[in-house]
Amino acid sequence: MAGKTPAKEHTEVSEAQIAVHWKEEEYLRPPKKFVEQANMKDRDVRERFGPKNFPDCFKEYADMLTWFEPYHTVLDTGNPPFWKWFVGGKINASYNCVDRHLAQYRNKAALVFVGEPEDESPVALTYQELHVQVNEMAALLRDFCGLKAGDRVTLHLPMTLELPITMLACARLGVIHSQVFGGFSGQACATRIQDSGSHMLISMDAYWRAGKLIDHKANADVAVETAQEMGQHVDKVLVWQRYPGKYSSPTPMVKGRDFFVNEVLKKHRGARVDPVPMDAEAPLFLMYTSGSTGKPKGCQHRTGGYLAYVAGTSKYIQDIHPTDTYWCMADIGWITGHSYIVYGPLAIAATSVVFEGVPTHPDAGRPWRIAERLGVNIFHTSPTAIRALRKAGAEEPRKYKYRFKHMTTVGEPIEPEAWRWYYHEVGKGEAVIVDTWWQTENGGFLCSTVPAIDPMKPGSAGPGVPGIYPIIYDENGEEVPAGSGRAGNICIRNPWPGIMQTIWGESERFVAQYYTRYCKNRKSKDWRDWPYLAGDGALLAADGYFRILGRIDDVINVAGHRLGTKELESACLTVPEVAEAAVVPVVDEVKGRMPEIYVSLKPGHEGTPDVVDRIIKANEDIIGRFARPKHVYVVHDMPKTRSGKIMRRVLASISNRRDVGDVTTLANPTVVEEIREMVQGKEKVVTTEAVPEDIDKYGQNE
Ligand code: WTA
Repeated sequence: MAGKTPAKEHTEVSEAQIAVHWKEEEYLRPPKKFVEQANMKDRDVRERFGPKNFPDCFKEYADMLTWFEPYHTVLDTGNPPFWKWFVGGKINASYNCVDRHLAQYRNKAALVFVGEPEDESPVALTYQELHVQVNEMAALLRDFCGLKAGDRVTLHLPMTLELPITMLACARLGVIHSQVFGGFSGQACATRIQDSGSHMLISMDAYWRAGKLIDHKANADVAVETAQEMGQHVDKVLVWQRYPGKYSSPTPMVKGRDFFVNEVLKKHRGARVDPVPMDAEAPLFLMYTSGSTGKPKGCQHRTGGYLAYVAGTSKYIQDIHPTDTYWCMADIGWITGHSYIVYGPLAIAATSVVFEGVPTHPDAGRPWRIAERLGVNIFHTSPTAIRALRKAGAEEPRKYKYRFKHMTTVGEPIEPEAWRWYYHEVGKGEAVIVDTWWQTENGGFLCSTVPAIDPMKPGSAGPGVPGIYPIIYDENGEEVPAGSGRAGNICIRNPWPGIMQTIWGESERFVAQYYTRYCKNRKSKDWRDWPYLAGDGALLAADGYFRILGRIDDVINVAGHRLGTKELESACLTVPEVAEAAVVPVVDEVKGRMPEIYVSLKPGHEGTPDVVDRIIKANEDIIGRFARPKHVYVVHDMPKTRSGKIMRRVLASISNRRDVGDVTTLANPTVVEEIREMVQGKEKVVTTEAVPEDIDKYGQNE
């Protein structure tokens, strides 16, 4: 929100009263050349996918796939909010992403791998070769590992071709894969192994990151040992080799438990495995994400609806054609990579680029050299990468002769400033941009412009994509109308094929987290009574464009990665000296938000550099290196209410140089000034800039 409301009134101000004053941005129109070639040019597409034609409109997406047996019911709402899509249909995701393209595209590149070291040539995998490798891996998983449909297997793989190959091999058998982002620590991987009940872990010996060959096998050992302590036994660890035939990790293999995939694969050379016809509703994969409570949620995605949704949106919103070279610079370990590097693009026979490295390494020209060399014409990345590339080399794109016709931004709100650099410098003013808003839970895009139809507006995601009917509700469940200038909670009124089925093993939590708040009637079987609560604050302009403001819960979006503050706080509490911990988001120029940690220590302990280092290490070990806080402050007491609750909102104000407001009602008001001085120095620095809504409201629900 804009800094209109004095901070002291925060607790009394309802979201409905919060006014947001953004400057309205100018529209930009898609270039004519783009419009002419676009997959979706029908200006009535939103009507075609409108409430009158719901849910049958989504047949259009299902028809983009090849079904072994046709579905008889598009949407079954019999047990809300556990919607079922394309009921009765039998389908296989691996078949749809690989086999069915062989007739026409056998020798076209399906995936192009670009390793981080620049002297290693890109590796193109044709659809034929992908077919061979997926089949051999599926044979290994079935015959050597004994995996069958419905089993879960945890993958902790970096950004190499082995990751999509493994995912597609699992999908071929109906085995549910649960890929854990490679940057997560071994311990974080263990929680996900335990929660999903995986008996197998698939990992890799090493991978490149910012010039270092990281020992990834060490994480597998920690993961298996920690899972064992948590009661989950892993009997096999499959280890891919970054350089086949050579072991690149100093961590020893465990006899009888660890196996090199490359070696075992030799026994399956030439194997062909029939794709298993799966129920449309059979789970395809789990993807864990942070929530407001400590434990990550295993978002369970279905086969038929998910694949239909990502195929449809890849075609209409990403506008991918089989002749394009498409590069999504996300990590496959996050939902963006699952949906828009692997499943969506491959379902529509794209050529999709897989990049191992860090965009700014060895310099900020790297992405543009890759784009030039591969002839990339569709580019997809996050605001964090855009900000980082701009900061490190605003002029770099001009040095290279690539040409993008389409670009995507995803994962965080993008400032109009950064958007404009993306448009003018990266896109050279020739590329259309889609700002796609969605979440791990959603499978695919929720809000975005349809690139050839809707004009772009910097900083706004746009309207709901075809078939998605978003709405903003205030605290009391009243609709916040378009153009009111007020922010509220963005919800989706209808079910859609990409929505997750449930939280793995926690159906009640699923209902409580996403549906209870605005459900109009718990007994109703009418989907209209079950709006989905996304957990973001948003604003709807008079033109129907949504501007996403950020999380409304205790989740910090760090460089597009969701971190639960409770997860970070409990990591801090594993350091024996720490008595209390509070984590707040702080605005960061490149990463959008970063966590800042406040701790108080048990009596008799000092805030030495050693304690601070161990707190940082605890977060890196338990969660991952991307959870590294911006600062750790050791305070002698936390600001608390009289009932003893830590006032995180006060700490968030201090961290972000905002006015802390009235603190006289606290149990220990004097500590606030002490902490302020420690963080900001003697001089009082309060910025007068508008307060971002997520920071402003942080901790308000306490
Ligand atoms: C945020 C990533 C503004 C939002 C696909 C959401 C965005 C969270 C945008 C989901 C966007 C994602 N503009 N904010 N275009 N896209 N977000 O689950 O807060 O990793 O709730 O999914 O990222 O993050 P997740």
